Amino acid sequence: MTDLYAVIGNPVAHSLSPAIHGEFARATGQDISYGRLLAPLDGFKAAALEFREGSGMGLNVTLPFKQEAWRLADTHTPGALAAGAVNTLKFEDGRIAGHNTDGTGLTRDLKDNLGCAIRGRRLLLMGAGGAVYGVMEPLLRELPQEVVVANRTLEKAVALVGHFEMLQKFASRGVTARPYGALTGLRFDIVINATSAGLTDVMPPLPRDIFAPGALAYEMVYGRSTLFMRFAVECGARAAGGLGMLVEQAAESFFIWRGVRPATAPVIRSLRQKDEG
Ligand code: ATR
Repeated sequence: MTDLYAVIGNPVAHSLSPAIHGEFARATGQDISYGRLLAPLDGFKAAALEFREGSGMGLNVTLPFKQEAWRLADTHTPGALAAGAVNTLKFEDGRIAGHNTDGTGLTRDLKDNLGCAIRGRRLLLMGAGGAVYGVMEPLLRELPQEVVVANRTLEKAVALVGHFEMLQKFASRGVTARPYGALTGLRFDIVINATSAGLTDVMPPLPRDIFAPGALAYEMVYGRSTLFMRFAVECGARAAGGLGMLVEQAAESFFIWRGVRPATAPVIRSLRQKDEG
């Protein structure tokens, strides 16, 4: 019997996950079916459990249900535990295992696809919402020199830094919170836009000399060049969108479910071509 998986969210119609997992399954010869599950905003738990009752083996969880998925899970990986959010559920032996593969997706995309080492580098993360909580633990485990979290609402950045206090030791010069106005004079090797501003084509106010020579500007939003990416290129930095992260987090979920690691480069390439075509 074909094993069933799905992405659950609201909305979910736009999700590329079915296409990505479909390609992984074909390439690895795994017999799975991967669909979309639209859950009512107040009906995540019921929809997820019903999917499991119907012989579902696992779910990817997207907005706005990642925290609820965390609460539904019986066990959590360290990354999921730290994030307080789960994007991958695995149903096995009557238990629900919660994982968060977003951060691993980001670190793999940076290191393997973009050739951008994290160890010993200075990182600026813009935003202090769920997107940053989701990636902080795996980023810190890569041993950066420094992580600065900048946010429009400073208190949220301060709370986020406090939340990850136990992991501060992984960054040799620590993790700090700053308002955008206090970035003047600082330089970073990797600048990540994890705000939702990328979706609306406004961008946080960054000084033009924020990028160190050879810096990478990473936009977590995928699908098109954003204002932040164009700004970064104008300032002499290299810019990348979040498509690679999307495919890498999917590959990590696939590995958790199937024990097989699919090649990501062909899938990233084909999605990029579709996007440009
Ligand atoms: P997510 O879960 O995707 O991270 P979120 O929790 O709504 O979404 O967080 C959105 C982030 O984008 C926040 O850090 C928000 O800043 P505030 O905490 O000050 O609201 C940030 N953001 C959204 N629009 C922004 C803008 N125009 N300029 C700067 N930051 C913005």
